[in-house]
Amino acid sequence: MGQTAIDSRILRDALSSFATGVTIVTTVDQAGEPVGMTASSFNSVSMDPPLILWSVTKTALSAPIFQQAKHFSVHVLAADQMTLSNRFARSGADKFEGVDYQLDDQGVPLLSGALTRFDCRTWSVYEGGDHWIIVGEVTNMEANKGEGLVFSGGSYATATTIQPPNPDVQNDDGPIEDLLIYNLARAYVQVSSKFHNAVEESGLSIPQWRILASLHGGKARNFADLVARTFVSPKKMHHLLAQMQKAGWLTVEGENSAAMITSTAQGQAQVEHLFELGAEQEVVALGEAGKPGQERLISLLRAVIANTNE
Ligand SMILES: Cc1cc2nc3c(=O)[nH]c(=O)nc-3n(C[C@H](O)[C@H](O)[C@H](O)COP(=O)(O)O)c2cc1C
Repeated sequence: MGQTAIDSRILRDALSSFATGVTIVTTVDQAGEPVGMTASSFNSVSMDPPLILWSVTKTALSAPIFQQAKHFSVHVLAADQMTLSNRFARSGADKFEGVDYQLDDQGVPLLSGALTRFDCRTWSVYEGGDHWIIVGEVTNMEANKGEGLVFSGGSYATATTIQPPNPDVQNDDGPIEDLLIYNLARAYVQVSSKFHNAVEESGLSIPQWRILASLHGGKARNFADLVARTFVSPKKMHHLLAQMQKAGWLTVEGENSAAMITSTAQGQAQVEHLFELGAEQEVVALGEAGKPGQERLISLLRAVIANTNE
């Protein structure tokens, strides 16, 4: 054991600043049982021949199996596979129970749902201190499009693409571009203008759409909740509710602020297609950020709404 001036806990913390993807490496033991473990030490090595590497701690139960295995598969995990990652990071547990996998010709378990998979023949195993460094020659690959799971600073994360500035958009960067309020307002105006035209073309006013959309799915809401969600003044809300009740779009039970409002089937039908249209327009607005970007943005905006709710 070599003398070292580096504290291993501090070293581990320092290394965790290097964000990595997360993989599950699988193989088969001599008894034909599937073996696998979570590993973030995966990396590329060579293009010609096609080589990759990962390292396994000698104390892992599966270390001697990987050291001797002739074949293994590296599964790069997708952003939604955190639970699977945790499962394969638990030492010794029956990791494969209830997990969806198939065996390849070598008997190596191939897990479903990974972003990318590299099937490898073991090229070489090197000793690297308390780890075995396993180099594999890639013999087959399966790559899907999507977002990968990230491990950074000891936590799971997802990667956010940094958008390069769009040369078509005039961006005279000034202090206002850094203000949340400006970005919220500009994004809102741009995203909503086309949608609001469609709402009006369908015969609803924007406040009417907001009320019916808030009640969609059969949800009953009280008067104050509806006021907060639709940015309509209480006075105008009374007027709108009376009008919409008359049209058969909603029912109001109780008086004034104690009133509970529910939309009718007729009211729900008024907005069904607008939900679909809104979702279509969101896809355009989010561009390459896609569904994961939408989830992150909505979660941030919900925090902003909660922090500023009076
Ligand atoms: C995100 C993450 C990354 C990991 N990366 C590695 C790694 O690269 N090498 C390693 O030996 N262990 C790594 N581990 C720990 C192993 O997954 C863990 O020790 C596993 O339980 C070993 O299983 P076994 O003892 O049944 O073989 C990682 C764990 C997590 C959560």
